[in-house]
Amino acid sequence: MKKSKIGFTAGTFDMFHIGHLNLLKAAKERTEYLIVGVNAADLVFSYKKKYPLIAEEQRLAIVEAIKYVDEVHVMDSLDKMDAWEKYKFDTVFIGSDYKGSERYKQEEIRLAKVGAMVDYLPYTESISSTDLAKRVLDDEANKVYFKEHLDGMK
Ligand code: CTP
Repeated sequence: MKKSKIGFTAGTFDMFHIGHLNLLKAAKERTEYLIVGVNAADLVFSYKKKYPLIAEEQRLAIVEAIKYVDEVHVMDSLDKMDAWEKYKFDTVFIGSDYKGSERYKQEEIRLAKVGAMVDYLPYTESISSTDLAKRVLDDEANKVYFKEHLDGMK
């Protein structure tokens, strides 16, 4: 497999979990230099109407410490062309949960014009920051999750 030279991925990375780690590892396997954008708290609020539970500087520090990550930046925009103007990557990595979404279909077209592509990486099932937050608040949901996903791993 020919590696990309500069790869880029961005996300919230709230309550850092195995899905985030798998994504960053898979991205780094496919690129020589991995730049990661960590979405600013206000940016997350603008589309989710909820702030992340972990502060921006802490999410940045955690992602920066991951050995697959070469460079990190706080992102104030979701627009991948804004990011391309700054970082001139050849590939955007993103979980396959975004494949086929209107937003990414548009990003694919815009990025192709500057010679960059979107590479969808396998999404890790059964975990997300949203799900973790729900389980913190809801004991029953936590029990069901434990029975379905963790019990068998003991
Ligand atoms: N991701 C993944 N597998 C998961 C969760 C996330 O591959 N189980 C990927 C996403 O596709 C994205 C990156 O990790 O490329 C960062 O996603 P983020 O939105 O921060 O993670 P989530 O846990 O899905 O957050 P939320 O529940 O708030 O959407």
